[in-house]
Amino acid sequence: MDHFTLKNGVLHAEDVPLDAIAAAVGTPVYVYSRATLTRHARVFRDALSILPSVHIAFAVKSNPNLAVLKLLGREGYGADVVSAGEMARALAAGMPAGDIVFSGVGKTGPELAAGVEAGIGQFNLESEEEGIELAAIAAARGATATAALRVNPDVEAGTHAKISTGKAENKFGVPYDRAAEIFARLDGLEGLSMRGLAVHIGSQIGNLEPLRAAFGKMGELMRDLRAQGFTVSHMDLGGGLGVPYREGESFPSPSDYAAMVAGATQGWDVTLMFEPGRVIVGNAGVLVTQVVRVKRGIEHPFVVVDAAMNDLARPALYDAWHDFVAVHPTGERITANIVGPICETSDTFAMARDIDAVQPGDLAVFRTAGAYGATMANTYNSRSLVPEVMVDQDRWAVVADRIEPATILAAERVPDWLD
Ligand code: LLP
Repeated sequence: MDHFTLKNGVLHAEDVPLDAIAAAVGTPVYVYSRATLTRHARVFRDALSILPSVHIAFAVKSNPNLAVLKLLGREGYGADVVSAGEMARALAAGMPAGDIVFSGVGKTGPELAAGVEAGIGQFNLESEEEGIELAAIAAARGATATAALRVNPDVEAGTHAKISTGKAENKFGVPYDRAAEIFARLDGLEGLSMRGLAVHIGSQIGNLEPLRAAFGKMGELMRDLRAQGFTVSHMDLGGGLGVPYREGESFPSPSDYAAMVAGATQGWDVTLMFEPGRVIVGNAGVLVTQVVRVKRGIEHPFVVVDAAMNDLARPALYDAWHDFVAVHPTGERITANIVGPICETSDTFAMARDIDAVQPGDLAVFRTAGAYGATMANTYNSRSLVPEVMVDQDRWAVVADRIEPATILAAERVPDWLD
């Protein structure tokens, strides 16, 4: 459930008509609903409360906006970060360092050092090499870094290939069959305290079976390690739960997920850690855009909007579907291709789609754009970096400014020897 609904014929975010935001801030613009974010955070947390001991680390990559992180921090969420930049955001939002998990396959030496100095709660190691480096960095500072070993369980997540992470050929984690010996070697290192295992098999997962299979394999590995005398007190089960993008689509709910986890982890006697992203923020945001032009096509018209693949990359990258609805729907429908202004064919949001009829100048939204939307935006074609707004009942605020092309141009230099 979200709070983007028609009221008196106008699409609102909570109690704010989206045309009011567009008039004040311009388009394209991302709009988040505080009530939806809060609701999703609570529903997920409450669903997991059937488990004995839980830590939830929001996957910052899905929506790193400071206001979003602040809100989630207040709901008791920690953060899953994958760069020093994300770590700085989580800390700036007031999340305790101890509640932060540092993931990522390519953490650099300086990033590991920054994490140790900040007192990050858990490093999820993606290789033995990384563990050796982290141990040395921590030992040199007289510190001990707490870590889990990310394991690649070789499970097919059943999602888009570009967002699957748990097959043997993927770059993430250590191979399942070598995990126990790597854990054993890392556990002996000065500067490192190994406390658990981590797994994350992919994103936008709509079927719980691959997750159940992966968790089952992780449970076996945990028991092996314990049988060898190692302490395993934390198991990080990652994120990945999908959300509906198309009206009428149905996905496992947080409570279905929690029930599956409860079954798969029965008797584990650990703190279970989770790294949800999309399920918390996906349906809490829309991208508001204006129709620039409606151009005659061969079979269907092209609705050219002022948002583009640089603002919302998911359709171009993963052929992702985002529902497109008018801010002032008339009830009339058309079949159209929805495209942005960027000079490549991948800047296509939809082909032959049945949509609300729109005219040049009309406003519309791409729904379910709160996750992997603004965070993946860029400035290709020297366009602005898209701004973000948060709505709270009848008030709203810009939570990220539009970065104008002139600001980006001002950071560029022409060397003397070219002048
Ligand atoms: N934990 C780890 C280690 C991850 O790599 C990810 C996502 C998550 C947690 C959060 O997964 P979620 O709960 O959001 O599914 N840009 C793509 C999605 C990439 C996901 C990357 N990793 C998209 O727009 O679909």
